[in-house]
Amino acid sequence: MGGFMGSIGILTGGGDCPGLNAVIRAIVKKAEDAGKSCVGILEGWRGMIEGETMPLDTASTGDMVASGGTILGTSRTNPFKREGAVEAIKENFSKLDLEVLIAIGGDDTLGVAARLFEEEALPTVGVPKTIDNDLPGTDFTFGFDTAVNIATEAVDRIHTTAKSHRRCIVVETMGRHVGWIAAYTGVASGADVVLVPEKPIDVDKVAEILKRNRSRGKEYNVVVVSEGAQFQPGDYVSKAGEVDEFGNVRLGGVGVVLADLIEDKTGYETRTVVLGHIQRGGAPSTFDRILATRFGLKAAELALERDYGKMVALRGNRIDVVPIKECLTGVKALDDEFVALTEAFS
Ligand code: F6P
Repeated sequence: MGGFMGSIGILTGGGDCPGLNAVIRAIVKKAEDAGKSCVGILEGWRGMIEGETMPLDTASTGDMVASGGTILGTSRTNPFKREGAVEAIKENFSKLDLEVLIAIGGDDTLGVAARLFEEEALPTVGVPKTIDNDLPGTDFTFGFDTAVNIATEAVDRIHTTAKSHRRCIVVETMGRHVGWIAAYTGVASGADVVLVPEKPIDVDKVAEILKRNRSRGKEYNVVVVSEGAQFQPGDYVSKAGEVDEFGNVRLGGVGVVLADLIEDKTGYETRTVVLGHIQRGGAPSTFDRILATRFGLKAAELALERDYGKMVALRGNRIDVVPIKECLTGVKALDDEFVALTEAFS
């Protein structure tokens, strides 16, 4: 095998999440220890198409384990939807003297990395991230633990104000097409009802549970609903017409619709809280700092060993390696045990 001459490119794509900077820091550290340089590609695939970069070294990234967001910036740019973009990426790969590109992202970003590897023979390595925890191939992604800690703390606070006012409060979480955030948050915070995309919402049943809980002496209610929960299968509450370059609809609003229905059916004064991007902001939890660091070190190892087309993954408590395309096999929905867990206290 020849010497490793070019740099390791690093990009972050899709929705940001806590832990991205910890991954970047770990890759840069491992690479520098091996005598290799790294370069940051700005704003996901947009930076690769346009050749926009920033220098990365241990001096500038060494203190990033605890910082939120991504210093590289991010975007939902899809090169396969833009004329000439894949050619531009290939040209910039040579111009920037990249030996390998490490893409840190969800299914959209990693889908591009997998196609560039399979169809264009570009050397890519993947690091899975998403607060939604919906990627197949890995048991957990960093960002999820932080998001559910933030959401759980928020719902704990909702409990006290809901109780004081004898209200019902509906809390809408993120999570797109899976209910991991809502399930963990709802169960951990003791919500009356948890509603997830994996099961259609039955409003009459929700009202019945809330009334039953009041008849047992509870003076208030808290309902946790995932933004992707549906009243009819496939009928998402979304911002009409807003679709990104990967075809994702912009979800949001199911909590408000549900609150009105609950108020009508129960007569309880009801409010809605949409947690939104608070779940993605700020410092990563300890768990996410560790997972992101382990992922970053392993991804750097794959890059240094020229083991391309692979993605790092958490299996049990071990860091594993799988083909990037493994995370493109649909979404990792809540399994039956977790659906049952959300119903156990309803
Ligand atoms: O995929 C992560 C996520 O936070 C989803 O939970 C949410 O539906 C989506 O991103 C929101 O995207 P944006 O920040 O582009 O509105």
